[in-house]
Amino acid sequence: MERSKKPANIPVSPTIPTPNVSISQDNSRVTASLPTGESVDILLYGATIISWKAKGKENLFLSSKAHLDGSKAVRGGIPLVFPVFGPPPAGHATTGLPQHGFARTSKWEYLGKSTSESSATPKSKGDASVKLDFGLSHTMLDNIPSEWKNYEFGITYSVTLNTDDIETSFAIRNTGKKDWEFQTLFHTYLAVDNISQVSVSGLEGVSYKDKTQGGKEVKGTSGPITIDGEVDRNYSQDPSKLVTIAEKNKPRYEIYRDLLSDLVVWNPWESKAKSMADFGPEDGYKKMICVETGSVLQWNTLEAGDTWEGGQRIKAL
Ligand code: BG6
Repeated sequence: MERSKKPANIPVSPTIPTPNVSISQDNSRVTASLPTGESVDILLYGATIISWKAKGKENLFLSSKAHLDGSKAVRGGIPLVFPVFGPPPAGHATTGLPQHGFARTSKWEYLGKSTSESSATPKSKGDASVKLDFGLSHTMLDNIPSEWKNYEFGITYSVTLNTDDIETSFAIRNTGKKDWEFQTLFHTYLAVDNISQVSVSGLEGVSYKDKTQGGKEVKGTSGPITIDGEVDRNYSQDPSKLVTIAEKNKPRYEIYRDLLSDLVVWNPWESKAKSMADFGPEDGYKKMICVETGSVLQWNTLEAGDTWEGGQRIKAL
């Protein structure tokens, strides 16, 4: 029987879609995605970001021959360089460590997520972001073949996925009683369609150390950097300066830096790429450019009890 006075439906407030975070069954990777489709994929091995998708595109280059099983540092994505950049110098506390240090070859701990959401409006699909935290400390490492075995540290690495960009940041703490020195870098392999059409602006006139010429100091170019051969350069530039990577003169990525003044621009080009067993496909060097933000041109001293912070934000355009 139809009731004349039906109780009104209880109003339900519209549910706001939330970011999704999942951890693989074997506890080897964390994947996060936003309701708007952006996603990030991070291996606990090295806390290496191996995929970042935004605007329907993959933004990170990952070698087809990269080892993703924890047997070797990942060739591609965003590996982490710490506590030494490049081969460790002789007679230093890092002597004996592998090239680029141990952070990229250590298994990190996933510490958890924090999310933020805002509801959709008639004009936008809503906004959401997710921050994933990872930790590494001296207690998690064994067999450090260097003076570093006597140092104590704790690092929190945060990866924040927003709709238009990704942020990566470090809080590095000296938890021991001895001061120590370190270098660090986000070794970012950006995906491009064709390296011959890529230009990097924001470093005009800045002189650099050219590692393809034994570290010779070279005067910076007056225009944007273009690449038509092996490039391995170390720049230092005020972190408030924006660095833009364009393709066919159309901006594709913007890099904003927080307290990190050094930038490495690297492309191995054909013969060096061929000499790397984990670099593929053979012409993969045309599909990538490393523009790496960090602090590597000098040593940073971290006194006992102190914390050092730095980060970057890469916007996909
Ligand atoms: C870059 C360095 O950051 O990393 C290059 O400037 C180096 O000199 C490159 O060749 C790759 O290093 P790796 O250890 O990952 O082969």
